[in-house]
Amino acid sequence: MTKTALELEHLTPFMREIALLPKEERIKRILADRWLGYTKAEEAVNKLEALIVHPKRQRMPNLLICGPTNNGKSMIVEKFRRAHLLENKGHYPENDRPILVVQMPSDPKISRFYSILLHGLEINLRLRPRVSDLEIMTLQVMKRVNVRILIIDETHNILAGTTASQREFLNLLRFLGNQLKIPIVCVGTREAYFAIRSDDQLENRFEPFTLPLWKDDHELASLLASLTSTLPLQKPSSLMDPEVIRFLLDKSEGTIGEIITLLNKAAILAIESGEERISKENLARIDYLSPTERRRISERDLIQ
Ligand SMILES: Nc1ncnc2c1ncn2[C@@H]1O[C@H](COP(=O)(O)OP(=O)(O)OP(=O)(O)O)[C@@H](O)[C@H]1O
Ligand SMILES: [Mg+2]
Repeated sequence: MTKTALELEHLTPFMREIALLPKEERIKRILADRWLGYTKAEEAVNKLEALIVHPKRQRMPNLLICGPTNNGKSMIVEKFRRAHLLENKGHYPENDRPILVVQMPSDPKISRFYSILLHGLEINLRLRPRVSDLEIMTLQVMKRVNVRILIIDETHNILAGTTASQREFLNLLRFLGNQLKIPIVCVGTREAYFAIRSDDQLENRFEPFTLPLWKDDHELASLLASLTSTLPLQKPSSLMDPEVIRFLLDKSEGTIGEIITLLNKAAILAIESGEERISKENLARIDYLSPTERRRISERDLIQ
């Protein structure tokens, strides 16, 4: 019997319509990125919102968002960037670039980093200026377009450089903060925290904010509830069973990225098989390897 949108009460009103689309459409939806709010992520976004409107002062507050890989750090930055620009449409002059998000390169060099900042502001250099000129130019441009917050993702890459280059980068962060009087947000894994902590002056300027691994608690239950209400399946799934939760946490090793990958695969299988719901049984059948299993297989293949 074909369902109507009204019968799909386990879904959000928007998803009810989607759940009636053809299989291929629904699978495409599942694979596209979508934002799920959870307490820690909302807290982090609120902190970024507070920083961007922080009045200028000699010593600006900074933030260090850190957590394991695949645990939602970059998604938070992107959510903040989009939501802030959308909500403040028309508020900033057209040529302003209030939010500058860049990634620390994996071969950290000061000149490269300045070029990346400029590139983030749509300025591509054809010549190769000296570092001192790049520095002046970058500061000028950042001031001209009124950058109000600088977010540096993958900050742990600082540690890929020599000790001298690490020191240079930490000095650069302090220098940029002092010169521009804007908050700086560093984002990265635990190593980013160690890098910042190695400099006393930076350590007390950066408030750490951690995104820990997920565990069996109320937060996970609420994440799973919002996740299932946004997966376009025609029957309600049963994810609250303690056995299912244990399976999810064991397999995913506790990161949001892996939990979502796992459940997306289960949802796709549920659509393809016609079961239309995620259950213990179809979770056991999905083609999914945990991060440790994947690593073990690649290592084995490398040794052969
Ligand atoms: N709030 C969220 N809503 C929905 N999906 C999310 C959310 N946060 C993370 N994810 C999922 O987890 C994946 C990994 O998230 P993200 O790229 O933000 O991790 P990360 O912590 O930046 O990892 P890395 O340190 O490796 O860069 C995303 O591609 C997305 O599928
Ligand atoms: Mg990331």
